[in-house]
Amino acid sequence: MGFEREMLSPAAGGDDLQVEAALRPKRLSEFIGQARVREQLSLVLESALRRQRPPDHVLMSGSPGLGKTTLAMIIAAELNAPLRVTSGPALERAGDLAAILSTLTEGEVLFIDEIHRMARPAEEMLYLAMEDFRVDIVVGKGPGATAIPLDVAPFTLVGATTRAGLLPAPLRDRFGFTAHMDFYEVAELEQVLQRSAGLLGVTLPADGALEIARRSRGTPRIANRLLRRVRDFADVRADGVINREIASAALNLYEVDAEGLDRLDRAVLGALLKNFGGGPVGLSTLAVAVGEEPETVEVVAEPFLVRQGLLARTPRGRVATAAAWIHLGMTPPPDVFGAPDFT
Ligand SMILES: Nc1ncnc2c1ncn2[C@@H]1O[C@H](COP(=O)(O)OP(=O)(O)O)[C@@H](O)[C@H]1O
Ligand SMILES: [Mg+2]
Repeated sequence: MGFEREMLSPAAGGDDLQVEAALRPKRLSEFIGQARVREQLSLVLESALRRQRPPDHVLMSGSPGLGKTTLAMIIAAELNAPLRVTSGPALERAGDLAAILSTLTEGEVLFIDEIHRMARPAEEMLYLAMEDFRVDIVVGKGPGATAIPLDVAPFTLVGATTRAGLLPAPLRDRFGFTAHMDFYEVAELEQVLQRSAGLLGVTLPADGALEIARRSRGTPRIANRLLRRVRDFADVRADGVINREIASAALNLYEVDAEGLDRLDRAVLGALLKNFGGGPVGLSTLAVAVGEEPETVEVVAEPFLVRQGLLARTPRGRVATAAAWIHLGMTPPPDVFGAPDFT
């Protein structure tokens, strides 16, 4: 199983998937962190409820595991509306989308995950549906083809993407509200962990929660996953209590380092430093060096490395910062990117 399968798709195993569903907050008030997004969204929802109209279409962008799917479900729950779930890769032909749109009921929430991966013809159909609640079904081929207009019940589209930059402008512009999800603060992840520990019936002292939170890559999904791995460790190797020492020992065993970098993160940094002298190097060259798809490196590893100040994306390619050299226990070269100026 590659990194992509572990982190991008829900293929982490049936058990993980079930636990993930059980740990999902169901209402906006249970959703931890992302204060600005929460406030903006609650206004959008509240005013829609008052006007008794479906709210504007909502786009959510952010790294995997930050809560996009969770928020989509919450939006439907808060509106007391049914939810239809699909994903970009499932909408290969316009007909796939037409089949869904034509059966929506009034006020329904349509969630399209990974919306940037939708096929072009489906995308064009979606523009019209979003704007005019109408689709044109093309019947026949060639000169005899006719477009039959079909009304679509007023619905709310919720789109999620890990790569907002890939969305064509006409699609992006048709969303009334875009929520940018950021990595979580350590204190917020401590709350996520305490909530999950409560639901899972795990005893989690504050120092253990802090240690896991610090090493969760700013990501609730990872926090929850690490909590379960640490719990396993505590059950087998200790008395089940997750204090700081136990959490730290377990995370070391699972190759999560003190700053939360996992194997892929360290592989990317290691290749950048050792194979390319710290860069600049192009994304695809870097990806080949770590044996991963460029998209995995770009979507899964890089955003966190950038946010930690370990890697920079420059017009000439990826560059390691002085902090990256130090993090991997090496001495940064004198002309390193972002080096403090001692002169
Ligand atoms: N704000 C949050 N508060 C509590 N738990 C969260 C929050 N955001 C995400 N989670 C947890 O993280 C897991 C992954 O969230 P998900 O919505 O699937 O992320 P995404 O769709 O962005 O990849 C969920 O199981 C949920 O339990
Ligand atoms: Mg998701």
